[in-house]
Amino acid sequence: MIDVRATDGLHWRAMTSSDLAAVDAIAARVHPDYPEDTSVFAERLRLHSEGCRILAAAAVVGYVISHPWHLGPPPALNVLIGSIPEAASTYYIHDLALLPEARGSGAAVGIVTMLVAHARKLGLPSVSLVAVNGSAPFWAKQGFAVVGEPADHKLMSYGADARLMRRHLA
Ligand SMILES: CC(C)(COP(=O)(O)OP(=O)(O)OC[C@H]1O[C@@H](n2cnc3c(N)ncnc32)[C@H](O)[C@@H]1OP(=O)(O)O)[C@@H](O)C(=O)NCCC(=O)NCCS
Repeated sequence: MIDVRATDGLHWRAMTSSDLAAVDAIAARVHPDYPEDTSVFAERLRLHSEGCRILAAAAVVGYVISHPWHLGPPPALNVLIGSIPEAASTYYIHDLALLPEARGSGAAVGIVTMLVAHARKLGLPSVSLVAVNGSAPFWAKQGFAVVGEPADHKLMSYGADARLMRRHLA
């Protein structure tokens, strides 16, 4: 009998609207303290599909949602953004979430490298995100540094330990 592990054939691919149920299920497992409606994921996919990808093997085991944004406050948790700013000034990683079985595989570092290349292609000078779940050390290893303190209400919607982080692109 062939032993097929859940992560055999792990690869990133484009997200489609038929993946949204799987994205919801992973978000509920990985981010129980940061609930977001499917409409939020669906809107980001509609506005910037190039920044929305699925980590798949035998099943969907992760996702990333990202889009151009501005250097002002990040989007609040669970809020529709309406449109991508015309004068975008940073590339924003809204969420990167892997199920535990896909972690430590190199897939997270791989997608960050891809997103940085995408941001450069768009001519954006930095990549920004709100680090939650104690993930700041992961982002620091990818070249991100904390920017200020979580003073504004939009960042506070992510909780007191949330940190706005940014990586400047040379
Ligand atoms: C954060 C996440 C995407 C990182 O993916 P991962 O597969 O666990 O990361 P990797 O194992 O490739 O880690 C790369 C490096 O970062 C380190 N690292 C990863 N997560 C870390 C953490 N929470 N704290 C400290 N270091 C961490 C690893 O030890 C590794 O270090 P090394 O290069 O010295 O070996 C993943 O853990 C995850 O989905 N977590 C839950 C959701 C989440 O918090 N997402 C971030 C939202 S902002």
